[in-house]
Amino acid sequence: MILNLIKAELESLKCSTLVVFSTQSTQDDKIVKLSQPDLKNILNESIQDGLVTGKLLEVSVFREFEYMQYRHLVVIGLGKEKKFENESLRQAIACANDAVKSLKAKEVAVDLDGVIYSKSNSASQIQALVEGLLLSDYSFDELKSKGKGVSSAKNIEKSDKIETTYHLVSSHANTKEIKGAFDAGITLASVVNFSRRLGDMPANIMTPTELSEEAIRASKNVAGLKVSVWNADKCRKERMGGLIGVSNGSDQEPKFIIMEYRGAKADKKPVVFVGKGLTFDCGGISIKPGPSMEEMKYDMCGGANVIGALLGIAKLKLKINAIGLVPATENLVNGSATKPGDVHTARNGKTFEINNTDAEGRLILADALSYASELKPEIIIDAATLTGAIVVALGNTHTGFFTRNQALKNKIEKAAQVSGEWVWNMPLCDFHVKDMKGTFADLSNISSSKGAGSATAAAFLEQFVESDIPWAHFDIAGTAWAVGNRLNYCPKKGASGVMVRTFVELAKQFA
Ligand code: BES
Ligand code: ZN
Ligand code: ZN
Repeated sequence: MILNLIKAELESLKCSTLVVFSTQSTQDDKIVKLSQPDLKNILNESIQDGLVTGKLLEVSVFREFEYMQYRHLVVIGLGKEKKFENESLRQAIACANDAVKSLKAKEVAVDLDGVIYSKSNSASQIQALVEGLLLSDYSFDELKSKGKGVSSAKNIEKSDKIETTYHLVSSHANTKEIKGAFDAGITLASVVNFSRRLGDMPANIMTPTELSEEAIRASKNVAGLKVSVWNADKCRKERMGGLIGVSNGSDQEPKFIIMEYRGAKADKKPVVFVGKGLTFDCGGISIKPGPSMEEMKYDMCGGANVIGALLGIAKLKLKINAIGLVPATENLVNGSATKPGDVHTARNGKTFEINNTDAEGRLILADALSYASELKPEIIIDAATLTGAIVVALGNTHTGFFTRNQALKNKIEKAAQVSGEWVWNMPLCDFHVKDMKGTFADLSNISSSKGAGSATAAAFLEQFVESDIPWAHFDIAGTAWAVGNRLNYCPKKGASGVMVRTFVELAKQFA
């Protein structure tokens, strides 16, 4: 997909397809508004028949319609004017992209002027549109053969993929602010798509080593961004007992990935992001059941999305210092694997007994959070596909987050409001901490109580964060992949890149 922001008359463009937006009047939802007023007369019958109502995400395709010089017209509903949010735009333009694909259109004009309701919001609206388009364009098919000698429909589809150019037509297109927003949208969507690709890669390719190399490659030539990677020996020397303990069951070497971005003076405290980089989780000796186990290649999405967030922060040149930490390993089962009852020591000296080897994410995060605390940061944020319990609680719509810091909670909700990603604050209290006390070590890696599995996991993590550092934990187990049934700019089954954009927004608040 190629995007082009231009100031032009719609009549002057050589495109086969025009996309316009429709809304419902706030006073009377039977009154439809269209970005091109003359279309209201032309489409009168369709409006009378209820084919064009302006409802959010309504898609009406008019083929061979011959409006101006365009062959096809696509009308996309944005819902009630007053309720209109940037997230409506992301979702609506993703619907438009589906319609455009069905028309096999190569050159498309999008009439933005009817969308920009208030000039103060127009930049963020352009950004949202660009994000929606590029995010909806992501697909992961690089591991499919090009169709040579194979006649499956999928392969034919792949070689037939049409490159579409979208001309976003706006009378404000020449302003610095709008151009900046357009570029920011491209940057953000690209880093989200980068994170998605890391997630979608199978675990035989996306090993801890490969994940670290992806982070290094992507950071090359990004100003202010530096990546260092600790190998197993270094991790052992650095007392990363949780990460080493989990990696004992695997032939793949664990890695601890450190991404450092310098966008402010050296004495400005950094914002630290930590992501679970479990490249495959079979559960270890407490092995998982077979069905859906293949999905556990996504257990590194916290890490992938932290890498994406650091790339976004650096590419947008935010005036902050930021650090991304990704402990990466497999959780497999060989003769050296951790056994139930084993005791390991985390970097901060706290010991834990492993009563279920499938609760491994918290063990590798323990070391990373201890290390993060030593950096004396402004805040620590972690993201992890940590518990099945969060999927039970929130399904695949909202990402649950845990924090005891009210100011940080407010900042997170503000950031999520801008990114359009749904978050839900979950409870975390001293009872949850009590549930994680060990019998033979300081802590147990599973709760002694029934229920609240996501909160007790968060309480375990809290033991590795210095108490004076504002910290929030995001459990993305329900939202890291397969959310496309809810969000049409996300792939149906693949990785979503969730929280990358929210984390970048959050980081902006520390500039
Ligand atoms: N990676 C899983 C959590 C998970 C489950 C993510 C389903 C996405 C979908 C994690 O390592 C795990 O297995 N957690 C256990 C913890 C339990 C043993 C206390 C869980 O949630 O079942
Ligand atoms: Zn597990
Ligand atoms: Zn896991």
